[in-house]
Amino acid sequence: MRSLIACCGVALTVITATARAGGNPGDSQRIDAGRRVYIAQCAACHGLHGEGQPNWDRPNATGEMPAPPHDRTGHTWKHSDAMLYRLIKSGWRDPFNKTQRLTMPAFGQVLSPKEIRDVIEYLKTMWTPEQRRFQLEESQQAPFPPEAR
Ligand code: HEC
Repeated sequence: MRSLIACCGVALTVITATARAGGNPGDSQRIDAGRRVYIAQCAACHGLHGEGQPNWDRPNATGEMPAPPHDRTGHTWKHSDAMLYRLIKSGWRDPFNKTQRLTMPAFGQVLSPKEIRDVIEYLKTMWTPEQRRFQLEESQQAPFPPEAR
C-alpha cells in the first residue's frame, strides 16, 4: 500500500507540474520540433531569438514593413491561434506596403499543418505569462483549424 501511495504521489507531481507549464506531456515535443522549424525557416528574417529586424516598426527604404519580433517586445502574442495559423500558412503583407509582394512568405506548401502548429507553440515560449494568458483567451473563440488539431 505504501509503495502504491508513493507511486501515485510521483505521478501526481508530474501531472501538476505539466499542468502548471500550461499543457500536456506532448507539449515539450511540439516545442522542440517547433524550435527546429523556427531556426530553419523563420530565424533568417525574424532573428534567432525572435528579436525581429532593426527598425521593424516603420517602413524600410523599399516602403515595406520589416519582419517584426516574436518575443515579448512584438505583437505576435496579440493574435489568436487561428490568426497565427492563417498568417503563416497563407503569408501576409502590410496593406500600406509600397510593393505588392508577400513580405511574410506563405508556408502552406513548405510546412505541414503539424509543423505550422509546432512553430506557433514555440513562439509562445517567447512571451510573458500575461501575454500567454491573453493569447489563450483570444484563441478560445478562434482556435487552430481542424487540420492542425
Ligand atoms: C523572408 C523573410 C521572412 C521569413 C523567412 C519569415 N517571415 Fe514572418 N514576417 C516577415 C515580414 C516582413 C513580416 C511583416 C509583414 C507585414 O506586416 O507587412 C512577417 C510577419 C509575421 C507574422 C505576423 C506578426 C505580427 O505580429 O503581426 C508572423 C506570425 C510571422 N511572420 C511568423 C513567421 C514564421 C513562424 C516564420 C517561419 C515559418 C516566418 N514568419 C518566416 C518576414 C518573414
